[in-house]
Amino acid sequence: LDNGLAQTPQMGWNSWNFFACNINETVIKETADALISTGLAGLGYNYVNIDDCWSSWARNSKGQLVPDPKTFPSGIKALADYVHAKGLKLGIYSDAGVFTCQVRPGSLYHENDDAALFASWDVDYLKYDNCFNLGIPPKERYPPMRDALNATGRKIFYSLCEWGVDDPALWAGKVGNSWRTTDDINDSWASMTSIADLNDKWAAYAGPGGWNDPDMLEVGNGGMTYQEYRAHFSIWALMKAPLLVGCDVRNMMSETFEILSNEEVIAVNQDSLGVQGRKVYVSGTDGCEQVWAGPLSEQRVVVVLWNRCSKVATITAGWSALGLESSTPVSVRDLWKHEVVADNRVASLSAQVEAHACEMLILTPQTTTNSQIL
Ligand code: GLA
Repeated sequence: LDNGLAQTPQMGWNSWNFFACNINETVIKETADALISTGLAGLGYNYVNIDDCWSSWARNSKGQLVPDPKTFPSGIKALADYVHAKGLKLGIYSDAGVFTCQVRPGSLYHENDDAALFASWDVDYLKYDNCFNLGIPPKERYPPMRDALNATGRKIFYSLCEWGVDDPALWAGKVGNSWRTTDDINDSWASMTSIADLNDKWAAYAGPGGWNDPDMLEVGNGGMTYQEYRAHFSIWALMKAPLLVGCDVRNMMSETFEILSNEEVIAVNQDSLGVQGRKVYVSGTDGCEQVWAGPLSEQRVVVVLWNRCSKVATITAGWSALGLESSTPVSVRDLWKHEVVADNRVASLSAQVEAHACEMLILTPQTTTNSQIL
């Protein structure tokens, strides 16, 4: 969507994956505090996004949405002021249907009033869900909120949460700044890997202004191992997915912080070229030895060697699968070891990768020829 936002994928935090409906204004404020004190905000995680359950069960007598008086007694404007004072941005949630997924009032047929209300609260981001949609096609339900947000004059990031049901990648580029390509993620290896594969299909449609959204991060929520979470974060970064932290950042383990704060991996996600990396080569049983790759600015290439098999494997990436001439020499930097691991490398590289682990590398061509351009 050409509204000046989303030149790179959005980064921040969202309440749903960890808290679900157990949210209140204290949690949101403490999360904003923690984003600052941990340093995550400084690394780019600047949206603080409230998901479902912030609203009362009914609109007020003027037909307006009302924050739940028990959990958000100070209101959303006060929260926006609080996070803005810290240099952060506030996100909110509604639904392109008559109710949200947790049966709070939805915004269908209230688009203009609700957008104006969100803007009056100084909200910066809207996640717009798909429950209770009366069977009306999403192509009819999502543009009215885009137009309503635009009419407010406030810059509001518009995140479509249509779960990929009607192939949003094919039409949402003109509607939203990101669009979900899949059903909800859960905190498991099976869910994470299958969502990565589904999102991969739409790589060609992502770019500055509009991104494929394979759903929010589960890193730190406890259902996957350290290596699995590292692979989850690496692949989400390579796929130019939104990096929306989904754990309780007030109580992170050091491993969780180490993953989420890897500046070299974040830089891949936020690279100015804005091209979604994809699965480029598979081998092994059921294709479980995988190479994912994509171009970066300055003719660099990012490569993830991802072992999705149940035992250790040696994974090889040949330059041809990466879009490089076989004779092109590159330096190879490992983004998890934080060091250059090879110099003047040509033709291919291999690594032994533990089960469910990955290596994430940036290849930088060491001579300049036209053939290096992907
Ligand atoms: C849907 C969305 C989730 C979350 C919940 C909230 O399932 O896909 O991301 O927002 O609704 O109810």
